[in-house]
Amino acid sequence: MTRTPLLAGNWKMHGTRQEAVALAQKLAETIGRVPGREVVVAPPFTALECVGRAIAGTQIRLGAQNVHWEPKGAYTGEIATAMLSEAGCTYVIIGHSERRQHFGETDETVNRRLHAALAAELVPIVCVGETLAERDADATAAVIERQVASGLAGASSAQIARCVIAYEPVWAIGTGVTATPGQAQEVHHAIRRQLVGLASDTTAGRVRILYGGSVKAANIDALMAEPDIDGALVGGASLDAAEFTRIVRYEEKEG
Ligand code: 13P
Repeated sequence: MTRTPLLAGNWKMHGTRQEAVALAQKLAETIGRVPGREVVVAPPFTALECVGRAIAGTQIRLGAQNVHWEPKGAYTGEIATAMLSEAGCTYVIIGHSERRQHFGETDETVNRRLHAALAAELVPIVCVGETLAERDADATAAVIERQVASGLAGASSAQIARCVIAYEPVWAIGTGVTATPGQAQEVHHAIRRQLVGLASDTTAGRVRILYGGSVKAANIDALMAEPDIDGALVGGASLDAAEFTRIVRYEEKEG
């Protein structure tokens, strides 16, 4: 089963519209067409539409950083699927550890967001990852298994096949400390085995599992060489056009 590698940039809370468009225009030039890759950028909500215009006609797709489960209502500060689709999004990041850590996101709310995204034909990028304390306590496997099982609860095999999972160890996010390719591969492999049980062999072979946490131009090639690492969810390095371009063009030796 071949999986198209997916390289996604999570811009987090970075970028006024002006800054976002400038970055998107550069990316449209450098990675607007890269055969055999899928590329996604997830700017702040306010910049979705203008970034969408800047990448129109390229292969770069638009993603959002969160979505609420209700279609509308009194949910101050939240955003609905129809609003994201209207702004041009086809992907949405769900359950990022920063949302879990700082904004009370739970396994249950991750699951509700997932179902809303699937119903709206948005591709969910479901984030899972252990903290340093959990890794030190040898709880990594259990934590990831719980997050994957509850995150995907109630999804059919066909729905799971449309999901992307991002393994982002919390201790590697924004710290400059990347999981070694071996550490990441071990968790990715365990997730894929779990997907066999939750869905099927075929589905497990289809789901892209991304690695995230201090991904840079300097470490992407080694990460992508692992059999179960199908792409990356990139934070800081996705804000630098040259760096993200090199990440998307991993493997290709730049001359
Ligand atoms: P960094 O690449 O800045 O470590 O962030 C990773 C991340 O959280 C992507 O969602």
